[in-house]
Amino acid sequence: MPRGLILGIESSCDETAAAVVERGARTLSSVVASQIATHLRYGGVVPELASREHLRAIVPVVRAALAEAGVTLADLDAIAVTSGPGLAGALLVGITYAKALAFAQVLPLIAVNHLEGHIHAVLLQERSSTNGRHAETDEPALALVVSGGHTHLYLAQPSDGTWQYALIGRTLDDAAGEAFDKVAKLLGLAYPGGPWIDALARFGNPHAVPFAFAQIKTKAHLGGKAPRTKAAKTAPIAALDPHFLFSFSGIKTAVLRYVELHSMREEAAARVPRMLAAGRPPQTKEDALALCPQPTLDLIASFQHAVIGDLMKKTFAAAESLDAGRILVTGGVAANRELRERFTAEAARRGIQIAFPTLALSTDNAAMIAAAAWPRFVAGEFAAPDLTADPSLALGR
Ligand code: KG4
Ligand code: ZN
Repeated sequence: MPRGLILGIESSCDETAAAVVERGARTLSSVVASQIATHLRYGGVVPELASREHLRAIVPVVRAALAEAGVTLADLDAIAVTSGPGLAGALLVGITYAKALAFAQVLPLIAVNHLEGHIHAVLLQERSSTNGRHAETDEPALALVVSGGHTHLYLAQPSDGTWQYALIGRTLDDAAGEAFDKVAKLLGLAYPGGPWIDALARFGNPHAVPFAFAQIKTKAHLGGKAPRTKAAKTAPIAALDPHFLFSFSGIKTAVLRYVELHSMREEAAARVPRMLAAGRPPQTKEDALALCPQPTLDLIASFQHAVIGDLMKKTFAAAESLDAGRILVTGGVAANRELRERFTAEAARRGIQIAFPTLALSTDNAAMIAAAAWPRFVAGEFAAPDLTADPSLALGR
């Protein structure tokens, strides 16, 4: 009987990660090398630099994951790797290394969709908190994957040990995390902006600036148009209920207009050196005020409140329409404090179960990749030897 040890490798964006997970339930190690310092001065991820950094980090990160888990390559039962969606060059570093390891060790290779990985971050968390004894129900769950590259709603359905996914909704343009990052940049805050906005929003008035989200136009209006997003290619937008479609590029423009109208540009630019000196987001009101005047804090709080309100409105509407008794919220933006509080309160009010990954499992990691690979390992679904990167790999139907 194999121990069920899977080495997961993730390199789809700006994190090089490796993890060893036993039977999709017990994390023996999870190592994440972040490239934030490399991309910081460019205010976003530079794909060429990301590939170079992955090449530098992949061998030490995998070694560290094995060492921390107290295992060797010979103990492994399979190797899992993210095959998409993500940056082509970045994905290829992980895929090539995983293939080489699998070939040398004569181990099966399992290709994992990054979005499925995010969903399994929640399932891994649930299984590990019940010591692997978590009885997986047959109940479908509505999963909101909300990160820097994606804002997708899926209906996730367990079926014979594996999972099936149906796309319910998605963003037509920017992902929610992208909006956090772009608004942060505009306000002179560091990349990635999510954690800064999260920390600063606590000290502002969320009702100071009334941002509004318009209802997305009807199917007929959209026709068969492809979405403008860089994210995964999926079923035509026209096939989706417009009530479950998102759009976050408008609020970014609204913040920009507000900044210009209230002459906040110079103040934002002057913040950059102070923000870099601070190094990490402020934790007290005093520190927040030293970095941003109250009107900026109010703008940040209002922006965050509006984005989370829109995510909530559509997610709960989809849960109601699909009669889903369970919601999983995952991806980098799921680390957001206000998001967790408001989703949890609304779920309790409606009598719906809700689950999030731990903060470390919310953002990109490889434990979620190894966990998502477990049902595929059991089902014998292995990758072909010619596996390659698919930057716009879709999940589900
Ligand atoms: O899942 P992730 O690590 O990478 C992608 O697959 O995109 O998500 C990164 C995104 C970034 O846009 C970052 O700003 C956002 O997640 N993020 C947050 C928070 N922590 C990370 N957004 C809001 N609040 C946070 N606390
Ligand atoms: Zn991700």
